[in-house]
Amino acid sequence: MTMKILLTGGTGGLGREVVRAAEAAGHTVRIASRRARPHDAPPAREWAQMDVETGAGVPEALESVDAVIHAASDPRRHAVVDVEGTRRLVQAARAAGTAHLVYVSIVGVDQIPFGYYRSKLAAEQIVAAGGVPHSILRATQFHSFVDTMTAGAARVPLILPLPATFRFQSVDTGEAAARFVRAAEDGPRGRLRDFGGPQVLTWGQMAAPWKSACGIRKPTVHLPLPGPLAAAFRAGKNTSDGERGTVHWDDWLTRSYPSGSPSR
Ligand SMILES: NC(=O)c1ccc[n+]([C@@H]2O[C@H](COP(=O)([O-])OP(=O)(O)OC[C@H]3O[C@@H](n4cnc5c(N)ncnc54)[C@H](OP(=O)(O)O)[C@@H]3O)[C@@H](O)[C@H]2O)c1
Repeated sequence: MTMKILLTGGTGGLGREVVRAAEAAGHTVRIASRRARPHDAPPAREWAQMDVETGAGVPEALESVDAVIHAASDPRRHAVVDVEGTRRLVQAARAAGTAHLVYVSIVGVDQIPFGYYRSKLAAEQIVAAGGVPHSILRATQFHSFVDTMTAGAARVPLILPLPATFRFQSVDTGEAAARFVRAAEDGPRGRLRDFGGPQVLTWGQMAAPWKSACGIRKPTVHLPLPGPLAAAFRAGKNTSDGERGTVHWDDWLTRSYPSGSPSR
């Protein structure tokens, strides 16, 4: 059955892939964004200008949709956007009689002492208690996230400094997006099994093929980080035995850096 899906965060990294996956499955997507509809948006794609922080446009965005996938987030302003924004969206969804809200969360938000993750956990709790039929699906970090973080570290001259013993089970964004669309299709099922990448690797293991893919030769230098946050990433609290995607880091690198330079 095809649906009309309101997608918050539809302009973001995950959101763009959710749009692709949902439209490929025959659904109509209404992108929710703080920005106005772009002039080149395909006519079949709906657009709702709204802001979860202020609540502007939220009730209108929810009109006559079958499901909501809530992927809007702001790691720098998580208290107002992720916590209070989610509260506002859930209250409006309840008032609108929304049949299903899928919340996009992150593996380990209940285990890792990080402000953004605490807000994601608070948002999960708001969704769970908000009186709207829901699903909550946690995904691991995306390959693109590890790529961006590694590229950031590589801006340091002569060396690539990073906490090489951090673990990641990164996943292809497109595969995660397809899983979120299936969650919307399946109807409200509460907390779902986590969705992660096919393998757990240390950041040091990930850095080696990343450097080859990018044509970077400088040595990786382990950066020992103190504290409970670093300990949680070393212990792999951001990894899971749940469902797994199939796209390995090496393959994602080959696809993303076909000629040894960033393609994106
Ligand atoms: N990145 C990862 O590795 C990862 C892993 C697992 C789960 N996740 C989760 O996946 C979701 C998407 O992450 P992402 O990396 O794709 O995010 P992103 O690229 O940073 O996109 C964030 C989105 O949030 C929207 N947004 C921000 N503030 C808003 C507001 N006040 N009102 C309405 N919309 C607002 C933005 O839309 P406009 O700017 O158009 O308004 C944008 O589309 C998040 O919930 C994140 O926690 C991410």
